[in-house]
Amino acid sequence: MLPNDDAEQERLDLQHHIWRLLLQGALFTAPLKIPQPGEQTDLGGADFRILDLGCGTGIWAIDVADEFPRASVFGVDLSPIQPEWVPGNCRFHVDDYEDQWTYRDDEKFDYIHGRAISGTVADWANFYRQARQNLKPGGWCEMQEYDAWIFSDDDSFDRAPWTKEWVEKLDGASTMFGKQINVAKKHKQWMIDAGFEDVVEKIIRVSLGDLDTQLLLLTGMTDLGPPQIPIGPWAKDPALKELGRFEQLHMQMSVASHTPALFTRVWSYSEQQVQLLIEGVKREFRSKDLRLITSYRFVIGRSPGAPSEVPVAE
Ligand SMILES: C[S@@+](CC[C@H](N)C(=O)[O-])C[C@H]1O[C@@H](n2cnc3c(N)ncnc32)[C@H](O)[C@@H]1O
Repeated sequence: MLPNDDAEQERLDLQHHIWRLLLQGALFTAPLKIPQPGEQTDLGGADFRILDLGCGTGIWAIDVADEFPRASVFGVDLSPIQPEWVPGNCRFHVDDYEDQWTYRDDEKFDYIHGRAISGTVADWANFYRQARQNLKPGGWCEMQEYDAWIFSDDDSFDRAPWTKEWVEKLDGASTMFGKQINVAKKHKQWMIDAGFEDVVEKIIRVSLGDLDTQLLLLTGMTDLGPPQIPIGPWAKDPALKELGRFEQLHMQMSVASHTPALFTRVWSYSEQQVQLLIEGVKREFRSKDLRLITSYRFVIGRSPGAPSEVPVAE
């Protein structure tokens, strides 16, 4: 559904920066105990094994491998768009995670990560069953996802007809295609259904208009509402303003990459109609009269069993 060309790769790398800003530089939210160089661990001689599903340009996997030299990081993707020169503890493979996974018992992972892969899977129950089976007991799974929807705290969304048409038809087309894209909100329940324990959806709550606005990041997670990022630099809080500036640029790239294939194939839009829609949405994302918002979620779940338990064959 999405291209893998240069423009899309640039978008993914820009969004990587946004993900990291959201987490104040962190790469994950799961409580991982990745050994530091020289640290004694109970892993014996084993590596701390990390799998990145749908790794895209590989930027997340490379950053993790750089920051944690004692982790072995494996990235898989349908497209071989990752660089050749990567840290020695990072490897990339072309693979399809909708197929049967073929890792051996002694290749199970301590941490399985997926980011922005909503819209790439037809059978999520099968996906999460395989993720669970390929984690060591006590290992963590984490999905970092954005809602493929646009929100507002005021009537901005209702005053943005191009954006409304775009998100509604994008979701409809992806559903008809068999891989619904607006499913970030469903991952928590899917993980619970697959038997993960301690499943938590981490919420980043920001209050967008107030003078006392604060960006409540990892330390301030609450269950007050969806995590939100302004599209544009209109928030008062300087950190949110910066995030909004990046998100405004990112969302304009996003509409350009998410629209052509689905709208021409499923809705039979002409090239001209697609361009009109893209320009209309981009204009609304840049509008100073609108306060549109996107939302990002972090969902973690733990594979059952204590870390030291021997895996039980399923
Ligand atoms: C939106 S990109 C996200 C890339 C990366 N996770 C990131 O956050 O920068 C989704 C990626 O999933 C990959 N993908 C889609 N379906 C896949 C599948 N069945 N198996 C492996 N990779 C897949 C695509 O090729 C694409 O690189």
